Amino acid sequence: MMKAVNDTSLKEASELIRDGRLVAFPTETVYGLGADATNGEAVARIFEAKGRPSFNPLIVHVAKPSDITEFVEVSEKTQAVMAQFWPGPLTLILPLKGNSRISQLCSAGLPTLAVRCPSNQTARKLITLAGVPIAAPSANASGHLSPTNAQHVEKSLGNKVDMILAGGSTQAGLESTVLDLSTDIPTILRPGVVTAEDLEPLLGSIETEVKDGEIKSPGMLLKHYAPSIPVRLNAVDVAEGEALLAFGSIKFMGLKTGGGASSLPEERLRNLSEDGDLYEAASNLFAYLHALDNGENKAIAVMNIPNQGVGIAINDRLNRAASS
Ligand code: TXA
Ligand code: MG
Repeated sequence: MMKAVNDTSLKEASELIRDGRLVAFPTETVYGLGADATNGEAVARIFEAKGRPSFNPLIVHVAKPSDITEFVEVSEKTQAVMAQFWPGPLTLILPLKGNSRISQLCSAGLPTLAVRCPSNQTARKLITLAGVPIAAPSANASGHLSPTNAQHVEKSLGNKVDMILAGGSTQAGLESTVLDLSTDIPTILRPGVVTAEDLEPLLGSIETEVKDGEIKSPGMLLKHYAPSIPVRLNAVDVAEGEALLAFGSIKFMGLKTGGGASSLPEERLRNLSEDGDLYEAASNLFAYLHALDNGENKAIAVMNIPNQGVGIAINDRLNRAASS
């Protein structure tokens, strides 16, 4: 449902975010498809609504620059960049702090997180009222152009969002510059209105992924998370030394050595969703793969996950984990 921006619609939108729902909202770059970044199931809904075939990591948006210190490492260099360019159309890739409240779906299991403090007033009011950081990719169906007005969002995602905050056309119309500050040499992963020339006085020489006028998709550069041990898909039983990543009931899962899977100790068993809920499964996926990759297990056996809805994204990630 499309609503013009005013105090009432902003309040309603912030309540939807707190309830784990999706709200499309304007930023100074493009419209974002927002959800509570600390709620894994809410973040999983973003992937489903976009029809994104994989868990590409998301940008976490904050209302005040200093809000990021809770979940990422902020060096002096980073501080200087923030002071000059935030709020604004610059996304920073920074080292993720351990035990952060941010759902691992936002970082796609990577040790880094993309963060941005937008300058758009509607965006900042929404984040402030919601009281949580907001994860938001561009508010378009996967493979479509980024939306620069509320009508674009309506056309592309229509009834898949709980509310569209209509705040006119965006200023930049181009997604934010993505600057990786987690490596020794700062690297622009996605060019935007903040350019290398803008950043060089502060950072010195900058690597850029734009070569021969070609723009490499940042998604292509990602090392997706894969456990250090083999992952076996569509398992119907559990071998010796294997851990089990279950989905749904394990009543009929057996151990090759005899007995049932429910007798496995805690360090060898995680269930993505006992009720077979794909959203719950998506929100647990990265955390549970990490938990079973604990040095105790030789491999991870994964039960079949239905290849529908958000299950497609889960299987995409599992296939990557299994093939690397
Ligand atoms: O302007 C924008 O950035 C908009 C507004 C809504 O803020 N958002 C946006 O999000 O364009 P999205 O998801 O369409 O693009 C985010 C890009 C993706 O290419 C993703 O691969 C990259 O940022 N990215 C996110 N987290 C990353 C990480 N930890 N490391 C490397 N790249 C990352
Ligand atoms: Mg996009």
